[in-house]
Amino acid sequence: MAKITPGVGPQHSQLVVLVGATGDLSRRKLLPGLFYLSSAGFIPSCRIIGVSLDQLDADGFRKFAREALDQFSSRKVKDADWAAFAETLDYVPTGAGADPLKAAAAEAERKLGNENKRLLYLSVPPNAALSAVRLLAEADLVDRSRIIMEKPFGTDLKSAVALNAKLHEVFSEDQIFRIDHFLGKEPAQNILAFRFANGLFEPIWNRNFIDHVQIDVPETLGLGMRSAFYEATGAYRDMVVTHLFQILAFMAMEPPTALAPGPISEEKNKVFRSMLPIDPKHVVRGQYTGYRSEAGVDPESDTETFIALKCAIDNWRWAGVPFFLRTGKRLAEGQRIISIAFREPPKSMFPPGSGVSAQGPDHLTFDLADAAKMSLSFYGKRPGPGMRLDKLSMQFAMHDTGLIGDVLEAYERLILDAMRGDHTLFTTAEGIERLWEVSMPLLEAPPPVRLYPPGDWGPKSIHQLIAPHAWRLPFERVWRNPNPAGG
Ligand code: BG6
Repeated sequence: MAKITPGVGPQHSQLVVLVGATGDLSRRKLLPGLFYLSSAGFIPSCRIIGVSLDQLDADGFRKFAREALDQFSSRKVKDADWAAFAETLDYVPTGAGADPLKAAAAEAERKLGNENKRLLYLSVPPNAALSAVRLLAEADLVDRSRIIMEKPFGTDLKSAVALNAKLHEVFSEDQIFRIDHFLGKEPAQNILAFRFANGLFEPIWNRNFIDHVQIDVPETLGLGMRSAFYEATGAYRDMVVTHLFQILAFMAMEPPTALAPGPISEEKNKVFRSMLPIDPKHVVRGQYTGYRSEAGVDPESDTETFIALKCAIDNWRWAGVPFFLRTGKRLAEGQRIISIAFREPPKSMFPPGSGVSAQGPDHLTFDLADAAKMSLSFYGKRPGPGMRLDKLSMQFAMHDTGLIGDVLEAYERLILDAMRGDHTLFTTAEGIERLWEVSMPLLEAPPPVRLYPPGDWGPKSIHQLIAPHAWRLPFERVWRNPNPAGG
């Protein structure tokens, strides 16, 4: 078990009300994450009330939670830890209304014994968010609480503004935590460390030296049981307006005046303010063949399961540097990379055939997997006579530090931060509204979806979108194996 640094967790015991408790996210991430945080001692003590449409009782919810841990926990579940955790679980069906929830909360808080805080986690689709907020308010749970709102936050500018306004009628802004789990990923925070704790790259982190940037998050996953959610959401709302733009902000922002929520949000929001509206001409929407015949999908569905686009940040640092973003389901590989391509030298003395520029420009690449990796690739001489060039690379893999066991999963990290009242890695109302604003030209006039075969990299037109550059993925060289035998 990881060593726990004192002070990283909340001071108070926590009542967690998990709305959407039997949903996909809860099974995969929230219940395993809460289990780990509780059993590893990050939280002083904690009781959890699941709330969902399903007609379950507390035992039914415990069974659900146990199956979720068995299937999705990345760490071994010890029987004694499970028994202690199971005892803290309770369940109230949404349909039962506010009174049973209020009674269950009072009982849980009596058992917690001392003065506790409340964490209300809304893991529900955008159209169910407000009714969940009303339920929590009627159950008298607003006081002493913090509320985590899942993405997507709204479905367009108008709905996001309305949701923020309604939310503010019940919760004050400092109680609201709009979550984007990509910001909780260890390597995403490492972008901040890499950029702002080192002097090496700072002088070249701008349009004079950087040619273009790619943020590429292909997934091999299909929809699983999420077709109802996905059919109404699509790849742009599910991934781009949320995760990919947030990562882009970490990559592109100016140095904040302090590593604190206000200054970081301010710099991210400046990036969003400088973003040009998304031009539908620079967007490729795709749908994998077979999507329309899946259960829960409209046979004439226009929902995109893939999106690639070019966007621009029109400020002093980035004017003229294209940012290419891509993500989609059922693609050839699962990867999450940011790839920064540097400009090529102005003149080359290397003869044709030497291999210079044959493998694209020099790149700095961040891999956002939990076991983060980074690489810097450059041309070097191939040993032997003459002057032949090869692409070489320096690589760092978190595995090699021996500290990989200390990595908290993104949701674990963010739940802990919300319990502590720390907004640093959460998004703001202003930022989200601006992102919907720049998205409106695309949402109002989306280009037609183009089909792609499952297992590919998207529709063919992705190559025109990025020309004269090329997509960095698939990598022509594999990442070096971390910890090779004997190494
Ligand atoms: C979620 C999306 O927010 O992020 C999913 O709703 C997507 O569609 C997932 O698969 C990807 O997250 P991760 O952490 O697995 O990269």
